[in-house]
Amino acid sequence: MLPALPQGAEVENHLPSPPSPLLELRGLSKRFGAVQALDGFGLDVQPGEFVTVVGPSGCGKSTLFNIVAGLDEPDAGGILRFKGRGCHAKELLGQVSFMPQRDLLLPWRNVVDNAILANEIEGANRREARAKALSMLPEFGLTGFEKQYPHQLSGGMRQRVALMRTFLFERELMLLDEPFGALDALTRSMMQRWLLDVWQRHRRTILFITHDVDEAIFLGDRVVVMTARPGAVKLMREVNLPRPRAPELLTSPEFTAIKREVLDAIEEEAMKSFISSTAAAP
Ligand SMILES: Nc1ncnc2c1ncn2[C@@H]1O[C@H](COP(=O)(O)OP(=O)(O)OP(=O)(O)O)[C@@H](O)[C@H]1O
Ligand SMILES: [Mg+2]
Repeated sequence: MLPALPQGAEVENHLPSPPSPLLELRGLSKRFGAVQALDGFGLDVQPGEFVTVVGPSGCGKSTLFNIVAGLDEPDAGGILRFKGRGCHAKELLGQVSFMPQRDLLLPWRNVVDNAILANEIEGANRREARAKALSMLPEFGLTGFEKQYPHQLSGGMRQRVALMRTFLFERELMLLDEPFGALDALTRSMMQRWLLDVWQRHRRTILFITHDVDEAIFLGDRVVVMTARPGAVKLMREVNLPRPRAPELLTSPEFTAIKREVLDAIEEEAMKSFISSTAAAP
């Protein structure tokens, strides 16, 4: 005869199980010749989460994104799972939307045709894709600029076209590699609030690289601080600040406390990276 279930066991079985991560990375490493770019990087990203990644220059952030975007394979031994299924990086190609570190707008294409590039490559109907892009122009602050070419746009507008392209390529996971890197402080802070607004409406999952600690905390549900190269996780910090977030948050004691912790971790790693680069110099 089977032993009786302990009291409460049945109830426990009916509890909703926690959502499984959209993306799971375990022990990811990547070597380029003599350079070990990543070494044992691990991260889980939940559906709908906004995770920001900071770390010293050259610590492997873009390498990590290239792997998750399916453009590069990690070295053997690491685990990559997407939607609960183990996979090779190359299987992720086309499954995630990716805004690389440079905006990569094609100078001979106007705003709309640049925005639909990924959809076109995917074989989408051009007319339908254009109509969708046109309908999104107001949300991306580009109304009336559909026929302009990249050289006729400001830096902030170019970034918005690149972001619109990433949003138009509708995938659950978006990778944004320093999307606001080239912007002045004022435009940048406007873009941050705008991105949070768009993210809250579209409910995508975002992995976002930045060098700006304020930006990482202001935007993120979690901040990942990477070690100096070879890149691994130095610190994983929850950002338990309420949303929607307003600029006043940046001067609140809660924000400052998180910033101190993140800055300490980064400074330690930036120092290591500086020392090893000067030691390597002839
Ligand atoms: N395709 C490649 N071939 C050879 N080395 C590479 C390649 N891609 C990256 N690296 C090297 O790997 C290391 C990590 O580069 P990566 O671009 O990932 O850094 P990063 O953290 O994005 O830096 P940054 O903050 O400056 O953008 C660097 O030393 C870089 O030179
Ligand atoms: Mg980079």
